[in-house]
Amino acid sequence: MMRCHFTLECDKRSPMKHGTACSDANEDKRTLELGGHVGFDSLPDQLVSKSVTRGFSFNILCVGETGIGKSTLMNTLFNTRFENEEASHYEKDVLLRPHTYELQESNVNLKLTIVHTIGFGDQINNEESYKPIVDYIDTQYETYLEEELKIKRSLSNFHDTRIHICLYFIAPNGHSLKSLDLLTMKKLDSKVNVIPVIAKADTVSRSELDKLKIKIMSELVRNGVQIYQFPTEDEAVAEINSSMNTHLPFAVVGSVEDVKVGNKIVKARLYPWGSVQVENENHCDFVKLREMLLRVNMDDLREQTHTRHYELYRRCKLEEMGFKDTDPNSQSFSLQETYKGKRKEFLQELQHQEETMRQTFVNKVKETEAELKEKEKELHERFEQLKRLHQEEKKNLEEKRRELEEEMNAFNRRKVAAETLMGQALQCASQPFKKDKDKKNFFSLPSACSLTSSRNLN
Ligand code: GTP
Ligand code: MG
Repeated sequence: MMRCHFTLECDKRSPMKHGTACSDANEDKRTLELGGHVGFDSLPDQLVSKSVTRGFSFNILCVGETGIGKSTLMNTLFNTRFENEEASHYEKDVLLRPHTYELQESNVNLKLTIVHTIGFGDQINNEESYKPIVDYIDTQYETYLEEELKIKRSLSNFHDTRIHICLYFIAPNGHSLKSLDLLTMKKLDSKVNVIPVIAKADTVSRSELDKLKIKIMSELVRNGVQIYQFPTEDEAVAEINSSMNTHLPFAVVGSVEDVKVGNKIVKARLYPWGSVQVENENHCDFVKLREMLLRVNMDDLREQTHTRHYELYRRCKLEEMGFKDTDPNSQSFSLQETYKGKRKEFLQELQHQEETMRQTFVNKVKETEAELKEKEKELHERFEQLKRLHQEEKKNLEEKRRELEEEMNAFNRRKVAAETLMGQALQCASQPFKKDKDKKNFFSLPSACSLTSSRNLN
């Protein structure tokens, strides 16, 4: 009945030009009274039912020094005991360890992922400690964006691991924030909802805690760190949220120990002088944190993550990839042209790289060739030098050989002369009975012999 009535009203209007229909329709908007129950008031119920069937995911990142009480606080927050490995103080880098759990409360299913930092603040140089945390957060956004950009996407079944809240644990025993705290929170504030908490608040006195809270907040403001503020737009929660914003950073105590106080069993930490009750608002802000995080603002944290932090990541990433909403002349943006343009750019870049690589290769070959030529020249010169040396040595040896041969010849000649002389002398000695006519010449013989030998010697 209603639909019919509305159509009739529309038809009565004068024909509208395409593009002006919406604004004109808004101007002519009328409120109609329903004649009876139609049923669209069940839409919220339908949404609730659908969401409950699908279940929810909520992801918490705990950033804090080793042993500061991260695991204990998570156990206390969800009133259970998650697996809890103690981290070592000797990690080379900061690591992130995620664990996913399926929880159920009433008929609501929650896929809870808790991510802990391992070895945060344990390195000698902590300048880069924030990087693995930022990288982890970005990786989760990247995974979601990839799913969104798929042709066949199934975001309803997709396990969303984007971090909805980052609890930053501040040590209670300092005068204020450390530079590591400031640096890390500054790097994280545009990526994720950051809520700072003062850990192990039972280890400082009330007055010290108040002073510490004021100091921390003023340092955060002074350094432009934008922590998550509980939203005050919704009237239903405006009052409680604006009051809770003044209590930040929450000073928390964690414990899963059941202690009997009076006739009640409560979660507390027992000391020789008394007990600190986790859920007692006079003892610490644990209840405030739990209320704000889980009961009042869980949906806002999820929404802020999607509409603010993820949107920023997505926008930067898509712009980096060449996508834009309008071109500088405000003409409509074409996906096809962007793709073509990017492809062209990519191919040009590839060509340029190829050309650079080719040029580098040619230069290297030229350099090597020149080096080899230089080496060849050096070797040639060395060879010539050796050759010259060898020839000189050969010449000297020839000379020496000639001299030795001459010496040998002279020696041989002298030897022959000596042998001849010796033979003649022996001959003379073997004739003792010669005739008397020869006797007068006997004494003149040696002079004849010596004459012969002296001639031979020459
Ligand atoms: P890692 O995972 O090893 O980095 O440690 P963690 O930050 O998870 O700390 P964990 O919860 O394991 O607690 C370390 C120690 O601090 C344990 O002995 C806890 O009992 C103790 N502790 C935890 N919370 C509190 C607290 O609120 N107050 C006090 N005084 N001690 C606490
Ligand atoms: Mg732990």
